[in-house]
Amino acid sequence: MSSADQEKRLAALASLDQVEAGMRVGLGTGSTAEHMIRGLAERCKAGLSLAAVVPTSKASAELAQNLGLPVSDLERTPNLDVTIDGADEVDPQGHLIKGGGGALLHEKIVASASKRFVVIVDSKKMVEQLGKFRVPVEVVQAARPVVAAQIERFGGQPTLRLGKDGAPFVTQESNLILDCDFGLISDPPRLAQKLDGITGVVEHGLFVHLTDVVIIGRGDRAEINTKDRWA
Ligand code: A5P
Repeated sequence: MSSADQEKRLAALASLDQVEAGMRVGLGTGSTAEHMIRGLAERCKAGLSLAAVVPTSKASAELAQNLGLPVSDLERTPNLDVTIDGADEVDPQGHLIKGGGGALLHEKIVASASKRFVVIVDSKKMVEQLGKFRVPVEVVQAARPVVAAQIERFGGQPTLRLGKDGAPFVTQESNLILDCDFGLISDPPRLAQKLDGITGVVEHGLFVHLTDVVIIGRGDRAEINTKDRWA
């Protein structure tokens, strides 16, 4: 296991202390979330009883199902107690860039439906300013050129995300993703608001004012930062 992966695992396992019996838990997507899902399943095998888990992607749903977790969806379980998910970048105010795995729409819906949103990352994901990682913007297929032009007017550089086969990457909801370079982002809530205002944008990977707890794997320990301690 690489040192980044060890840090991801440490953060993921530490996050399980946020989960109590009877809870409805949102499950994130990605390699860090995978450690968390596996750890959660271990705890359930050891006697923890959950009301339901709501995954944010097909991959997380399959994993949770195979591990015997009580998989549900937002139709049956629209209110969640806690959601635990990874991130691509985290700033000192707990604002995030997410969507490297392409599941940002479901990730944001599930996070928004949760009383508490816990982010788990390795130490390399912590940044002073968001923006080195390009902001994924999910767009309706027909609107792609219009949205791309609007993003350029905002000073961003959009690039259509391609899949491993070289064809455009298509999300779970059959949309496209523009990975947008805005340089370092001085005001993430302001940029989020601008992106929210573009017709044809389904969702974007700037998660602002959503995070309650950030758990960082750093070396051989997990560091816990709560909302009251944001810079
Ligand atoms: C998935 O769409 C993303 O938001 C992931 O949460 C993010 O890319 C972090 O992934 P890793 O945990 O694999 O680094």
